[in-house]
Amino acid sequence: MSARIIDGKAIAEDIRAQAARAVATLKTVHGIEPGIAVVLVGEDPASQVYVRNKDAAVKEAGMRSFQHTLDAATSQDDLLALIARLNADPAVHGILVQLPLPEQIHTNAVIAAIDPAKDVDGFHIINAGLLATGQAALVPCTPTGCAILAERALGDITGLEVVVVGRSNIVGRPAAQLFLNRNCTVTMAHSRTRDLPAVCRRADILIAAVGRKEMIRGDWIKPGACVIDVGITRVPREDGKTRLVGDVAFDEAKEVAGAITPVPGGVGRMTVAMLLVNTITAACRAAGIEPPDIG
Ligand code: GUN
Repeated sequence: MSARIIDGKAIAEDIRAQAARAVATLKTVHGIEPGIAVVLVGEDPASQVYVRNKDAAVKEAGMRSFQHTLDAATSQDDLLALIARLNADPAVHGILVQLPLPEQIHTNAVIAAIDPAKDVDGFHIINAGLLATGQAALVPCTPTGCAILAERALGDITGLEVVVVGRSNIVGRPAAQLFLNRNCTVTMAHSRTRDLPAVCRRADILIAAVGRKEMIRGDWIKPGACVIDVGITRVPREDGKTRLVGDVAFDEAKEVAGAITPVPGGVGRMTVAMLLVNTITAACRAAGIEPPDIG
């Protein structure tokens, strides 16, 4: 049996189209133009690509994009001063500081300085705490994208066993809370988990977010399971070019799983789509309007 391939690109395009329609309505009915400030410090090539993609998607959806590109040697104080200006700017509904940051800057201090109402990454401890207590929050984009992909593949996910492999603040931890809020039975696994393959084999939905290429093998997967691969590692190809691979050994896994996301073309596209949704949500809340239901 070969798994159904979950088309993250098509699902992300659908969400981007819904976002664009919501933005058009906000403009014409309420006179609101959602705006996001994206801050990049330094010249990390992968971050430059991500920021470019975010900028293009924001503009395509009809929103305002404010780009701030700072030198790699920027001090923490200068970055915090920029964030204070963005917090105070009513045209800016969302603020995203691209990670990782250069080593002279403390990531947690920067995240803490962002107004939680504008924290479209959902990384601020206020938003993390709201999510963890089942309250309305701005939720990190990648885990929300994972949940939407799983729901599009399976329909109702109530009561299913979810195993999240990886405990990062950006993906693993919020993913576990998010699936718990959607009434799943959640196990968090990580590098110290005993008999990780056996734990993974319990999963109806397996979220792979470890950042280790092809670590999760075909025989770690329960037959028919839904596999969501968050990993993206660039590896050399024989022709001297490079290709992207996930945390899951795709060729093995697709023979066992019921549905699986490819890399690329799976979760990656969803992150940008959910950023648009979070920015619309933040803009609506700032104006006291009920945010549209996009997903
Ligand atoms: N770096 C890798 N993923 C992300 C993300 O989702 N948001 C930000 N700000 N930086 C990242």
